[in-house]
Amino acid sequence: MKITVINGTEKRGVTYKLKKIFLERFQSAEITEFYLPKDCPAFCCGCTNCFMRGEDTCKDHVYISAIEKSLILSDLIVMTSPSYVMHVTGAMKTLLDHFGYRWMPHRPAAEMFGKRAVIITQCLGAGATSTAKDIKHSLSWWGISKIEVFKCSLMSDIVWSSLPEKKRKHLTNKINRLACKFARFNYAKPARTKIRTKIKFELCRFIQKRVRKNGIIGLDNKYWHDNGWLDNSRPWNKT
Ligand SMILES: Cc1cc2nc3c(=O)[nH]c(=O)nc-3n(C[C@H](O)[C@H](O)[C@H](O)COP(=O)(O)O)c2cc1C
Repeated sequence: MKITVINGTEKRGVTYKLKKIFLERFQSAEITEFYLPKDCPAFCCGCTNCFMRGEDTCKDHVYISAIEKSLILSDLIVMTSPSYVMHVTGAMKTLLDHFGYRWMPHRPAAEMFGKRAVIITQCLGAGATSTAKDIKHSLSWWGISKIEVFKCSLMSDIVWSSLPEKKRKHLTNKINRLACKFARFNYAKPARTKIRTKIKFELCRFIQKRVRKNGIIGLDNKYWHDNGWLDNSRPWNKT
């Protein structure tokens, strides 16, 4: 089993600790970890090269292609971020921007439709829900149906060792339960694509069909056509 972890911070703090506890259940898995901003240090500059001319023409292609290759090969994707002003870290947002071309209206990777993903986030008081939503929004538009969230509010301190023992136990048990659940899945079988994902895909397909009818055959449209998605082929039937 292969796991890709994208850490939204390089800090070895509470988010790191929770992720570590989660991964303890996957001792035999091949785990590849990326730490942000180190492994994707540059902002998307809005050149739109990825959309219009291909992802290989992005100035940050070396970083993005390494992460993407790992994501495509993995059975489970783990994304982590503490809540910064109610949202993901700037580093995580930078990564998500870079994967804009993989959103369903553009060129979603067929492999993503069968993946499973876990989001781990925490905050001091408020913001974990909106932080998780930032990541979930992208993952779901990449085509992933099976996404679960671990979130919590620390309420007392932002340093793991300074949290009350009772709180640490509670968080450890909670993330262990999620890890046990994900460790039980049969990763030889792709996750089921939910109806909501299928509806989103059909909406994008409708747009791409219209675009083609109007004779605007860009990179995205060619991709949809070449995958057979404008005909009867669907990504979830292939994974
Ligand atoms: C720049 C910054 C912004 C933060 N914003 C929030 C926030 O909006 N709400 C909140 O409850 N905690 C906030 N926190 C606390 C973090 O969510 C988190 O609990 C803390 O940084 C510990 O996590 P870590 O050790 O994984 O970095 C913020 C922390 C930082 C450094």
